[in-house]
Amino acid sequence: MPRPDAVLLATVGGHVGYSVRPSARRRGFASDALRHVVPVAAGLGIERLLVTCDLDNLGSARTIESAGGELEGELEGKRRYWIRTGA
Ligand SMILES: CC(C)(COP(=O)(O)OP(=O)(O)OC[C@H]1O[C@@H](n2cnc3c(N)ncnc32)[C@H](O)[C@@H]1OP(=O)(O)O)[C@@H](O)C(=O)NCCC(=O)NCCS
Repeated sequence: MPRPDAVLLATVGGHVGYSVRPSARRRGFASDALRHVVPVAAGLGIERLLVTCDLDNLGSARTIESAGGELEGELEGKRRYWIRTGA
């Protein structure tokens, strides 16, 4: 039976997703974008953001870490990070 969307978001999805056009990668855009999302989330009253990436997605892992992501662990082939927003 398929899992409800809310369960998927809480396990492998997370609060935030991003993708950068291939020709614009490795220029800091994903890191900048994710850092800018954090105060927006705080303004919405969200105390911490769940951000996940595939185990082999080094670029995404670095992006999350550069925005203050703290690794919680791995679940279903994903790394799970939390970013405190300061809310
Ligand atoms: C993952 C993705 C969003 C990164 O975007 P980006 O704009 O290139 O990332 P940045 O330029 O901000 O780089 C962030 C860090 O990751 C590193 N990085 C980026 N791509 C990398 C790669 N392919 N391999 C290793 N490191 C990489 C950068 O060097 C940088 O490291 P630093 O903080 O130590 O300087 C982009 O590769 C992408 O769109 N991938 C396809 C979609 C995707 O995987 N989305 C994320 C789903 S969880």
